[in-house]
Amino acid sequence: MDGNGRWAKQRFLPRAMGHQRGGEAVRRLIRGVKDMGLEALTLYAFSSENWRRSAEEISDLMSLMKRFILNDLDEIAAHGVRIRIIGDYKAFAPDVVALLDNAIEKTANNRVMTLAVALNYGSQQEIARAATAAAAKGEITPESIEAELYTSDLPPLDLLIRTSGEVRLSNFLLWQAAYAEMWFTDVLWPDFTPEHLKEAMAAFGQRERRFGGR
Ligand code: FPP
Repeated sequence: MDGNGRWAKQRFLPRAMGHQRGGEAVRRLIRGVKDMGLEALTLYAFSSENWRRSAEEISDLMSLMKRFILNDLDEIAAHGVRIRIIGDYKAFAPDVVALLDNAIEKTANNRVMTLAVALNYGSQQEIARAATAAAAKGEITPESIEAELYTSDLPPLDLLIRTSGEVRLSNFLLWQAAYAEMWFTDVLWPDFTPEHLKEAMAAFGQRERRFGGR
Protein backbone atom coordinates (compact mmCIF):
# COMPACT_ATOMS: atom_id res chain seq x y z
CA MET A 1 0.00 0.00 0.00
CA ASP A 2 2.59 2.49 -1.17
CA GLY A 3 2.30 6.21 -1.80
CA ASN A 4 0.61 7.60 1.31
CA GLY A 5 3.49 9.98 1.96
CA ARG A 6 3.60 11.27 -1.62
CA TRP A 7 -0.19 11.67 -1.66
CA ALA A 8 0.10 13.94 1.39
CA LYS A 9 3.14 15.81 0.07
CA GLN A 10 1.37 16.66 -3.19
CA ARG A 11 -1.31 18.36 -1.09
CA PHE A 12 1.07 20.06 1.38
CA LEU A 13 -0.42 17.89 4.13
CA PRO A 14 1.39 16.03 6.94
CA ARG A 15 2.34 12.40 6.23
CA ALA A 16 -0.11 11.30 8.94
CA MET A 17 -2.91 12.61 6.76
CA GLY A 18 -1.69 10.42 3.89
CA HIS A 19 -1.79 7.38 6.16
CA GLN A 20 -5.25 8.35 7.37
CA ARG A 21 -6.50 8.52 3.80
CA GLY A 22 -4.66 5.25 3.16
CA GLY A 23 -6.71 3.73 5.97
CA GLU A 24 -9.86 4.98 4.29
CA ALA A 25 -8.74 3.31 1.07
CA VAL A 26 -8.37 0.07 3.05
CA ARG A 27 -11.93 0.43 4.38
CA ARG A 28 -13.30 1.18 0.90
CA LEU A 29 -11.47 -1.80 -0.56
CA ILE A 30 -12.65 -4.25 2.10
CA ARG A 31 -16.23 -3.08 1.57
CA GLY A 32 -15.80 -3.30 -2.21
CA VAL A 33 -14.24 -6.76 -2.41
CA LYS A 34 -16.64 -8.66 -0.24
CA ASP A 35 -18.88 -9.46 -3.22
CA MET A 36 -16.06 -10.12 -5.69
CA GLY A 37 -15.54 -13.77 -4.81
CA LEU A 38 -11.95 -13.28 -3.65
CA GLU A 39 -10.70 -16.08 -1.45
CA ALA A 40 -8.00 -13.99 0.18
CA LEU A 41 -6.62 -10.48 0.15
CA THR A 42 -3.29 -9.63 1.79
CA LEU A 43 -2.36 -6.06 2.62
CA TYR A 44 1.20 -4.97 3.41
CA ALA A 45 0.62 -2.49 6.23
CA PHE A 46 3.93 -2.42 8.15
CA SER A 47 7.22 -3.91 7.04
CA SER A 48 10.04 -5.03 9.32
CA GLU A 49 11.99 -2.14 7.76
CA ASN A 50 9.32 0.45 8.67
CA TRP A 51 10.87 0.68 12.18
CA ARG A 52 13.41 3.00 10.52
CA ARG A 53 10.73 5.69 10.22
CA SER A 54 10.42 8.44 12.83
CA ALA A 55 8.93 7.58 16.21
CA GLU A 56 6.14 10.03 15.42
CA GLU A 57 5.20 8.32 12.16
CA ILE A 58 5.32 4.85 13.76
CA SER A 59 3.08 6.08 16.55
CA ASP A 60 0.66 7.61 14.00
CA LEU A 61 0.50 4.27 12.15
CA MET A 62 -0.13 2.35 15.39
CA SER A 63 -2.91 4.76 16.44
CA LEU A 64 -4.47 4.45 13.00
CA MET A 65 -4.39 0.67 13.23
CA LYS A 66 -5.95 0.67 16.70
CA ARG A 67 -8.72 3.03 15.62
CA PHE A 68 -9.33 0.95 12.51
CA ILE A 69 -9.78 -2.24 14.53
CA LEU A 70 -12.01 -0.52 17.12
CA ASN A 71 -14.22 1.09 14.47
CA ASP A 72 -14.34 -1.55 11.75
CA LEU A 73 -13.92 -4.96 13.34
CA ASP A 74 -17.64 -5.55 13.91
CA GLU A 75 -18.49 -4.72 10.31
CA ILE A 76 -15.66 -6.86 8.96
CA ALA A 77 -16.66 -9.77 11.20
CA ALA A 78 -20.34 -9.43 10.22
CA HIS A 79 -19.37 -9.83 6.56
CA GLY A 80 -17.83 -13.22 7.25
CA VAL A 81 -14.24 -12.06 6.82
CA ARG A 82 -11.54 -13.96 8.66
CA ILE A 83 -8.59 -11.84 9.81
CA ARG A 84 -5.08 -13.28 9.74
CA ILE A 85 -1.86 -11.50 10.57
CA ILE A 86 1.38 -12.43 8.83
CA GLY A 87 4.61 -11.19 10.37
CA ASP A 88 6.06 -10.81 13.85
CA TYR A 89 3.22 -8.64 15.19
CA LYS A 90 3.87 -9.79 18.77
CA ALA A 91 6.74 -7.25 18.78
CA PHE A 92 4.17 -4.43 18.77
CA ALA A 93 2.98 -2.72 21.97
CA PRO A 94 0.84 -4.98 24.23
CA ASP A 95 -2.37 -2.99 23.59
CA VAL A 96 -1.98 -3.36 19.82
CA VAL A 97 -1.19 -7.09 20.17
CA ALA A 98 -4.28 -7.55 22.34
CA LEU A 99 -6.51 -5.83 19.78
CA LEU A 100 -5.04 -7.90 16.95
CA ASP A 101 -5.38 -11.16 18.90
CA ASN A 102 -9.00 -10.32 19.62
CA ALA A 103 -9.65 -9.59 15.92
CA ILE A 104 -8.06 -12.92 14.94
CA GLU A 105 -9.99 -14.86 17.56
CA LYS A 106 -13.31 -13.17 16.89
CA THR A 107 -13.17 -13.89 13.14
CA ALA A 108 -11.43 -17.28 13.23
CA ASN A 109 -14.46 -19.25 12.03
CA ASN A 110 -15.47 -16.85 9.24
CA ARG A 111 -15.28 -18.32 5.77
CA VAL A 112 -16.40 -15.75 3.18
CA MET A 113 -12.93 -14.31 2.67
CA THR A 114 -9.59 -14.11 4.44
CA LEU A 115 -8.08 -10.69 5.01
CA ALA A 116 -4.42 -11.13 5.83
CA VAL A 117 -2.55 -8.10 7.10
CA ALA A 118 1.23 -8.09 6.96
CA LEU A 119 2.53 -6.45 10.13
CA ASN A 120 6.18 -6.24 11.09
CA TYR A 121 6.56 -8.49 8.08
CA GLY A 122 9.68 -9.13 6.04
CA SER A 123 9.81 -11.95 3.54
CA GLN A 124 13.48 -12.81 3.97
CA GLN A 125 12.98 -13.04 7.73
CA GLU A 126 9.91 -15.22 7.12
CA ILE A 127 11.86 -17.62 4.89
CA ALA A 128 14.80 -17.83 7.35
CA ARG A 129 12.39 -18.53 10.19
CA ALA A 130 10.52 -21.16 8.16
CA ALA A 131 13.75 -22.88 7.08
CA THR A 132 14.92 -23.02 10.70
CA ALA A 133 11.60 -24.56 11.79
CA ALA A 134 11.66 -27.01 8.88
CA ALA A 135 15.25 -28.06 9.70
CA ALA A 136 14.30 -28.65 13.34
CA LYS A 137 11.64 -31.10 12.17
CA GLY A 138 13.64 -32.91 9.49
CA GLU A 139 14.53 -32.40 5.85
CA ILE A 140 14.55 -28.95 4.24
CA THR A 141 12.48 -29.10 1.06
CA PRO A 142 10.33 -26.50 -0.71
CA GLU A 143 7.30 -28.21 0.81
CA SER A 144 8.67 -28.36 4.35
CA ILE A 145 9.62 -24.66 4.19
CA GLU A 146 6.25 -23.73 2.72
CA ALA A 147 4.47 -25.47 5.58
CA GLU A 148 6.25 -23.15 8.05
CA LEU A 149 5.59 -19.85 6.25
CA TYR A 150 3.12 -17.40 7.82
CA THR A 151 0.98 -17.96 4.74
CA SER A 152 0.79 -21.77 5.03
CA ASP A 153 -2.99 -21.67 5.47
CA LEU A 154 -3.62 -19.13 2.71
CA PRO A 155 -4.29 -20.03 -0.93
CA PRO A 156 -1.41 -19.70 -3.43
CA LEU A 157 -0.63 -16.09 -4.38
CA ASP A 158 -2.13 -15.35 -7.81
CA LEU A 159 -1.79 -11.62 -8.23
CA LEU A 160 0.53 -9.13 -6.58
CA ILE A 161 -0.26 -5.43 -6.90
CA ARG A 162 2.07 -2.56 -6.08
CA THR A 163 0.85 1.00 -6.09
CA SER A 164 2.63 4.35 -6.49
CA GLY A 165 4.81 3.62 -9.51
CA GLU A 166 7.51 1.63 -7.72
CA VAL A 167 8.48 -1.52 -9.60
CA ARG A 168 9.97 -3.76 -6.91
CA LEU A 169 8.81 -6.26 -4.31
CA SER A 170 10.45 -4.65 -1.24
CA ASN A 171 10.70 -7.86 0.78
CA PHE A 172 7.02 -8.78 0.34
CA LEU A 173 5.96 -12.41 -0.26
CA LEU A 174 9.15 -13.27 -2.15
CA TRP A 175 8.68 -17.02 -1.85
CA GLN A 176 4.94 -16.87 -2.50
CA ALA A 177 5.41 -14.70 -5.59
CA ALA A 178 7.35 -17.43 -7.46
CA TYR A 179 4.52 -17.85 -10.00
CA ALA A 180 2.33 -14.86 -9.14
CA GLU A 181 1.33 -12.35 -11.77
CA MET A 182 2.46 -8.79 -11.04
CA TRP A 183 0.53 -5.60 -11.61
CA PHE A 184 2.12 -2.22 -11.10
CA THR A 185 0.18 1.02 -11.10
CA ASP A 186 1.08 4.68 -10.68
CA VAL A 187 -2.03 5.20 -8.52
CA LEU A 188 -1.03 6.29 -5.00
CA TRP A 189 -2.51 4.07 -2.29
CA PRO A 190 -4.99 6.66 -0.88
CA ASP A 191 -6.51 6.93 -4.38
CA PHE A 192 -6.77 3.16 -4.88
CA THR A 193 -10.38 1.98 -5.29
CA PRO A 194 -12.12 -1.36 -5.76
CA GLU A 195 -12.36 -0.37 -9.45
CA HIS A 196 -8.56 -0.41 -9.68
CA LEU A 197 -8.55 -3.88 -8.17
CA LYS A 198 -11.12 -5.01 -10.73
CA GLU A 199 -8.91 -3.57 -13.48
CA ALA A 200 -5.93 -5.54 -12.13
CA MET A 201 -8.02 -8.69 -11.90
CA ALA A 202 -9.26 -8.25 -15.47
CA ALA A 203 -5.64 -7.94 -16.65
CA PHE A 204 -4.81 -11.04 -14.60
CA GLY A 205 -7.65 -12.90 -16.34
CA GLN A 206 -6.04 -12.17 -19.72
CA ARG A 207 -2.66 -13.59 -18.78
CA GLU A 208 -1.61 -17.07 -19.77
CA ARG A 209 -0.15 -18.83 -16.75
CA ARG A 210 2.06 -21.81 -17.55
CA PHE A 211 3.84 -22.39 -14.21
CA GLY A 212 6.99 -23.37 -16.09
CA GLY A 213 5.17 -25.75 -18.45
CA ARG A 214 4.30 -25.10 -22.08
C1 FPP B 1 3.42 3.27 2.55
O1 FPP B 1 3.34 4.61 2.13
C2 FPP B 1 2.42 2.97 3.54
C3 FPP B 1 2.66 2.56 4.81
C4 FPP B 1 4.04 2.39 5.34
C5 FPP B 1 1.57 2.31 5.73
C6 FPP B 1 0.36 1.61 5.19
C7 FPP B 1 -0.64 1.63 6.23
C8 FPP B 1 -1.92 1.99 6.07
C9 FPP B 1 -2.55 2.31 4.77
C10 FPP B 1 -2.69 2.10 7.33
C11 FPP B 1 -3.90 1.34 7.45
C12 FPP B 1 -3.74 -0.12 7.44
C13 FPP B 1 -4.68 -0.94 7.97
C14 FPP B 1 -4.60 -2.40 7.73
C15 FPP B 1 -5.80 -0.40 8.75
P1 FPP B 1 4.63 5.51 2.29
O2 FPP B 1 4.51 6.24 3.58
O3 FPP B 1 5.85 4.69 2.12
O4 FPP B 1 4.43 6.49 1.08
P2 FPP B 1 5.58 7.25 0.29
O5 FPP B 1 6.46 6.19 -0.32
O6 FPP B 1 4.80 8.02 -0.72
O7 FPP B 1 6.29 8.13 1.27
